[in-house]
Amino acid sequence: MATEVISRPEVRQTQCFIGGQWVPAQSGKTFDTLHPATEEVICQIAEGDAADVDLAVKAARDAFDNGPWRTMDARERGALMMKLADLIEEEIDELAALETLDNGKPINDSRNVDLPLTIDCLRYYAGYADKIHGQTIPVRGNFFTYTKKEPVGVVGQIIPWNFPMLMVAWKWGPALAAGCTIVMKPAEQTPLTCLRMARLAQKAGIPDGVINVVPGFGPTAGAAVVQHPGIDKVAFTGEYKTAQTIMADASQTLKRLTFELGGKSPNVVFADADLDAAAAGSHFGLYFNQGQCCCAGSRLFVEESVHDEFVEKLVGMNQSRVLGDPFDLATEQGPQVDQAQFDKILGYIERGREGGAECLTGGVRHGDNGYFIEPTLFDNVTDDMSIATDEIFGPVMSILKFKDMDELIERANNTFYGLAAAVWSRDIGKAHNLADKVRAGTVWVNCYDVFDAAAPFGGFKMSGIGRELGEEGLKNYLETKTVTVALD
Ligand code: NAI
Ligand code: MG
Repeated sequence: MATEVISRPEVRQTQCFIGGQWVPAQSGKTFDTLHPATEEVICQIAEGDAADVDLAVKAARDAFDNGPWRTMDARERGALMMKLADLIEEEIDELAALETLDNGKPINDSRNVDLPLTIDCLRYYAGYADKIHGQTIPVRGNFFTYTKKEPVGVVGQIIPWNFPMLMVAWKWGPALAAGCTIVMKPAEQTPLTCLRMARLAQKAGIPDGVINVVPGFGPTAGAAVVQHPGIDKVAFTGEYKTAQTIMADASQTLKRLTFELGGKSPNVVFADADLDAAAAGSHFGLYFNQGQCCCAGSRLFVEESVHDEFVEKLVGMNQSRVLGDPFDLATEQGPQVDQAQFDKILGYIERGREGGAECLTGGVRHGDNGYFIEPTLFDNVTDDMSIATDEIFGPVMSILKFKDMDELIERANNTFYGLAAAVWSRDIGKAHNLADKVRAGTVWVNCYDVFDAAAPFGGFKMSGIGRELGEEGLKNYLETKTVTVALD
């Protein structure tokens, strides 16, 4: 069957974006960014470090303290954000292709998931820009007290590679609406769409210095963002171990921190569920985005009485999943993002086998070029195996059997993560009971991975601090100022 293959986009931005200028790293260094499906180098990117972050902070500080961004008519700020969303929409096909080039995700996903969610998130927060206000508060005595909501200041934003553009929108949306200015460090694996979005922000008329982008590595550019005294807050998405380093590094300047970290999310299938829907949702909830999702349903608890029938459905779906060129419209699964992730995932697969889990599909590399791993399904997994405790961040599903609700809840909560959970059942009491007892920031009932810019997302326990999206996501970018006036 002949299928349509989308052509590769041109790369136009490869340098640091500081104070509205495109500049090389001061050290002159660059690094390669790769196309994960072929392992070929796409281009060289400026490798920023502390010196470049310092310039970016100066530009962001100047734009915050003296620029028009924070003080302009809030409705105008919202209008500029709307314009950015419009410009992204005008280039939607090119941006989707650029995302696929840099990250390796199938073009169908970047075009139909990442891009629409990115645009929607920016529009959602654009609508908030002129709706940020405080309260009047009755206090004892003859005083008039009110609160104001002010932008927290210059924010450092450090993002991962799994949803490069969408993570930009989740970070820029609330920060821009609040009137903050930004120093962003995109992931070293996927800087291209972030740089393109910075260009579009400038084209939209967002003043120079409001958005600054310094590409580079974590321990250099990332750490400099966290340590810089000119930055008031850091928002980070990535691994919990990196968040531990960031928290320690931020202690000197007592920065405000928000974290969106990983998970080992329980996905629970009861015998009374619509099993076809549960199988399709579970397949999607794990294998979507090559399994590179913080909220992946990577502990699949299946009620014993339907185990065999359910697993059979999952095996069938894995066997017909289409892997290949991510620019091919028929492709469902692309490569993992890089060699390090590829090696990490294959290491877990090896340990799963050694530990006695039964590998029903996949478990091996796909092809001999690019970081492709076949959709892998482990049955007879026990709670103590590393494939059941650790975030694998790849296309590896683990099936755990359960007998009753009490046992299940204890096992589901037996993890230091608490990002997401899902339950499949036709019994609403049972579903709500689980939603009530599971310690997780998001619970999906008879669905998986349903995201909306208006719905808060984030983790309990070591899956994060604070929430992104919705009104809660905006609060993290605001300071409350209390003003009290004597009336006599
Ligand atoms: P990471 O947490 O190291 O990287 C995320 C971002 O943090 C990147 O921009 C990186 O350059 C930056 N960074 C790294 N070290 C830093 C430091 N010391 N100071 C400041 N910034 C720093 O994640 P990585 O290495 O890409 O992936 C490792 C594992 O993390 C994955 O296998 C996966 O389990 C998990 N992960 C979770 C994500 C999520 O969405 N929750 C996203 C990416 C990775
Ligand atoms: Mg790392």
